[in-house]
Amino acid sequence: MSGILLTLMSLTVSANLHCAVRREINPCTCRQEEFPSSVNTQAQTAAATVVASTGGSVNANNNAGGGTHHIGERIEVTCEKMKSFDQLAEALSGKFTPEQQITLRVSHSNLRDISHHDFKQLRMSITRLELNHDHLGVLDGDVFAGLGRTQYLSLADNEVPSIPRHILSHLSLLRTLDLSRNRISRIDSDDFKYNPTLQHLAMAGNAISEMTPGSLPPLVKHLHVGRNHLNSLNHTLRDLNQLEWLLINSNELTSLDGELPSSGHNLKMLYAADNRLTHLPAEFRYLHRLETLFLQHNKIRNLDGTLQKARRLKFLELSYNELQELNENDFIEAEMLEDLELGHNSLKSLGGADGDGNGSSALYPLRSLKCLNLTHNELREFSLASLRGLRELRLLDLSSNRIARLHRGRLSSENLVEEDEEIAGGNIQDLRLQHNELRRLDSSLFLGMKELQRLNLSHNALGPTIGPRNLRGLDGLRVLDISHNQLTTLEDTSDTWLPSLEELNASHNRLVTLSGRDFRGFPVLCWADVSMNQIRTLMPELVANTRCTIHGVPDVLRIYLQDNPVLCDAGLADLTVALEVNHAKVYGVGSDCPSTTTLAPPMAIELTSALPSEPLPLLLGRVELAAAAAAASGGNVSFAATLE
Ligand SMILES: *[C@@H]1O[C@H](CO)[C@@H](O)[C@H](O)[C@H]1NC(C)=O
Ligand SMILES: *[C@@H]1O[C@H](CO)[C@@H](O)[C@H](O)[C@H]1NC(C)=O
Ligand SMILES: *[C@@H]1O[C@H](CO)[C@@H](O)[C@H](O)[C@H]1NC(C)=O
Ligand SMILES: *[C@@H]1O[C@H](CO)[C@@H](O)[C@H](O)[C@H]1NC(C)=O
Ligand SMILES: *[C@@H]1O[C@H](CO)[C@@H](O)[C@H](O)[C@H]1NC(C)=O
Ligand SMILES: *[C@@H]1O[C@H](CO)[C@@H](O)[C@H](O)[C@H]1NC(C)=O
Repeated sequence: MSGILLTLMSLTVSANLHCAVRREINPCTCRQEEFPSSVNTQAQTAAATVVASTGGSVNANNNAGGGTHHIGERIEVTCEKMKSFDQLAEALSGKFTPEQQITLRVSHSNLRDISHHDFKQLRMSITRLELNHDHLGVLDGDVFAGLGRTQYLSLADNEVPSIPRHILSHLSLLRTLDLSRNRISRIDSDDFKYNPTLQHLAMAGNAISEMTPGSLPPLVKHLHVGRNHLNSLNHTLRDLNQLEWLLINSNELTSLDGELPSSGHNLKMLYAADNRLTHLPAEFRYLHRLETLFLQHNKIRNLDGTLQKARRLKFLELSYNELQELNENDFIEAEMLEDLELGHNSLKSLGGADGDGNGSSALYPLRSLKCLNLTHNELREFSLASLRGLRELRLLDLSSNRIARLHRGRLSSENLVEEDEEIAGGNIQDLRLQHNELRRLDSSLFLGMKELQRLNLSHNALGPTIGPRNLRGLDGLRVLDISHNQLTTLEDTSDTWLPSLEELNASHNRLVTLSGRDFRGFPVLCWADVSMNQIRTLMPELVANTRCTIHGVPDVLRIYLQDNPVLCDAGLADLTVALEVNHAKVYGVGSDCPSTTTLAPPMAIELTSALPSEPLPLLLGRVELAAAAAAASGGNVSFAATLE
């Protein structure tokens, strides 16, 4: 029922039902803006329901009578690819009443004759004017006479060479001005003097290199001067105490010292990515409202305690900088921080904590932290104890460091046996450790990390085995990636009970055997990638204790064997069948196998003798067929079981 109603309401928006003059403004189009929750809207929806339910066509005259000419009506008029202003005037002049508030959008048009006209001619109450992609350059201010009610002007994506002061002098009620992507190179003192109420000002993507102090409108809340050529803010922001959002990204700024609003009590968001900042300004200590801070792609070397008091900070993006270390007090009051992005720096230490996790960590105060990204740094070790108190932490990215030692740290190992003691990192769901230098894992390292679902240990130096107790406690683990290591066997790993493991990637190791024991600790395994190993022997009991189940529905365990010698083995055909019985399927194409005229009987015998005794006799016929096919294909044994 409500679904139908929703459909009808969207119909009223998209079908231009109420724009009675639609036909007469060709090639422009118009549509009426909805007034949500007004009585009028309900009436219109009801009307639409009638129209729709009688299957009738949309009749403009019908609706024109329907009380659409009430005070405060808002209409959007869109014109594209106009050949001249003349054509625009012809289409629109006198088609709307003064009470109708018009949003006029004219884009991708050629308005070269604009200086012979003016907007008064259109006899429309334009509250919002958007002239984009119209090749507008120097503009005669008088063209814009008659736009005294306009609150929003966009001249973005044109060729305007300077702040169009003469235009702005006619728009004294302007609250939003968008001059993005033009050719403006400077902002001078009087540029905005006629627009004291301007609150939203966008000048991104120009070539601004100079700004004069006092030139910006005093009440501005949102300012975007990103993607310009500024190497100094020249004290132009000092008095903008209403400023809430400041975007100064992609300029050539080296410092923000003394540049932020002097009473910066309102600044919530700063987007200063992609500059040449080497440090943060001391004033940050007084910007108590800061919620979001983008500082990536700068040259910041340390935080110097500048964010200590950032009590409302939720998002801090500092990746691609030159941070060497964090200090114990860097985030001391940043209790609301949820996302800390520190990737691609040169961090060697997280502040205070020594190798055993003694001492302190800059991270301790971050009790709201959900995501910590430390990828591509220079950490050599990591202690889970440095995550103490971070009960909200879900995602930890430590990939591409030089971590050779990963350990619990002193605190938690002491408390290991205490049931209700907090486990540092105990709520992490996704742990990324790929591309490090781990050779071994500490025993019981992950004990208590019951929430962990994805663990990536690929591209390390683990081997020759992962100890039997080292993955203990990962009851929720669904995906384990141990590819690109130096493992020769999985036997120890499978001594660990991983009751939720669905996906195991052990490709690119040095495994030689998959024995009957290897998967027994993984009762619900569905994907096992063991490609690019040296597996010669694969025993059918391998899968005897697994039963892949996806969303409660039994499925097949898929084993990827590409680039293992076992694929050349004649006995593999028999084995395949044996695996099928246990709902497993093998994938891989043997290549460069020795000639099959002398299929190695010893291996075949070994494999056959390992088959479970009961089901085999029934399947003998198929085994023979498969073996014959293998022989016929010459050197290459191509093969995927037929179950499904
Ligand atoms: C800084 O402001 C002064 C006026 O106080 C002006 O002369 C100068 O050109 C401005 N410099 C820059 C780089 O904006
Ligand atoms: C961590 O940050 C890097 C950029 O520094 C990004 O590419 C990567 O996807 C992030 N990791 C996660 C898990 O979001
Ligand atoms: C860190 O703690 C361990 C265990 O309590 C202790 O043996 C070691 O000496 C401590 N290290 C330092 C540098 O305090
Ligand atoms: C583990 O990390 C490697 C290297 O970044 C990546 O290729 C792989 O897809 C990741 N594994 C999983 C299961 O996400
Ligand atoms: C296992 O890891 C390798 C190498 O990182 C990758 O190419 C492959 O796609 C992964 N296998 C699966 C099943 O995701
Ligand atoms: C075996 O496979 C290789 C590479 O996949 C191919 O070049 C070759 O022709 C194949 N040989 C036969 C006999 O099919």
